[in-house]
Amino acid sequence: MTQLVETIADLRAIRWQDPSLTWGLVPTMGALHEGHIALVRQARRDNDRVAVSIFVNPTQFNDPADLEKYPRNLAQDIEMLRAENVDLAWSPPVNEMYPHGFQTSVIVKELTRPLEGEHRPGHFEGVATVVAKLFNAVQPTRAYFGQKDVQQVAVIKRMVRDLNFNLDVVVHPTVREADGLALSSRNSRLSPGERTAAAVLYRALSVAKSRFDSGETDAAALRQMMTDIINDEPLSRIDYVSVAHPDTLQEFTGDVEQALLSLAVYIGEIRLIDNMVIG
Ligand code: PAJ
Repeated sequence: MTQLVETIADLRAIRWQDPSLTWGLVPTMGALHEGHIALVRQARRDNDRVAVSIFVNPTQFNDPADLEKYPRNLAQDIEMLRAENVDLAWSPPVNEMYPHGFQTSVIVKELTRPLEGEHRPGHFEGVATVVAKLFNAVQPTRAYFGQKDVQQVAVIKRMVRDLNFNLDVVVHPTVREADGLALSSRNSRLSPGERTAAAVLYRALSVAKSRFDSGETDAAALRQMMTDIINDEPLSRIDYVSVAHPDTLQEFTGDVEQALLSLAVYIGEIRLIDNMVIG
């Protein structure tokens, strides 16, 4: 049975009914799709109990229009979670997470400066703060995150080590559509033409990976290859194209042995991200 709660008090009452049970937490912003569900299924396999949080966190949106247009569909989300046998669906109202007078935040420093951090000021401060609050509320045994948001994974893992959260971070591979497009709640906002164009992100990553596998190891050449492929798609506009160190996320110059390829691209008005590790 899936229990629905809003307050942290109700959540904790259920969480601590039997302290001997292991709990998996899947933090989400709702508008659930098969990417989220893959994390839920992994959590279901690994733990006695599974909690899914659904909270569109206002503090991680640097663009007010993006927050306003972010898809919300709580009733359908809950149906999907029931079908997956999730034990607890937690959807706190904004004032439960950020009551009047709220003024504390978690800042992860170096790792949040490049890539998404550079292009979305304040984003990771919002993410780290809300995830720390979700962790403290649920106190899960394990927490599940998707590789699609690779910098988010790096930031959360760093925060867990630095602040001694007593849990394991589990990372799930990116779930994709047949044409390679990474599943994302924002995909529902693409027009049919934009949806077709959006496959260009995965195509650019795949071509760069296969050229790397056949001997092109120069970071600038790999960046240029991805840039050209995306620029060939008329509906796309590049935000960034990166070939960076997988741990530090610093841009590479010269030859690479192992690297994180990552992209942020506007398709029409919708900003999409994707990544692939090579080597
Ligand atoms: P949201 O975008 O809803 O994503 C929730 C989780 O699902 C994240 O860990 C994300 O990486 C994962 N996910 C999304 N699409 C995926 C895909 N195609 N394949 C695999 N995993 C995928 O990420 C957030 O919410 C928020 O920043 C949050 C962590 C909940 C904090 O507010």
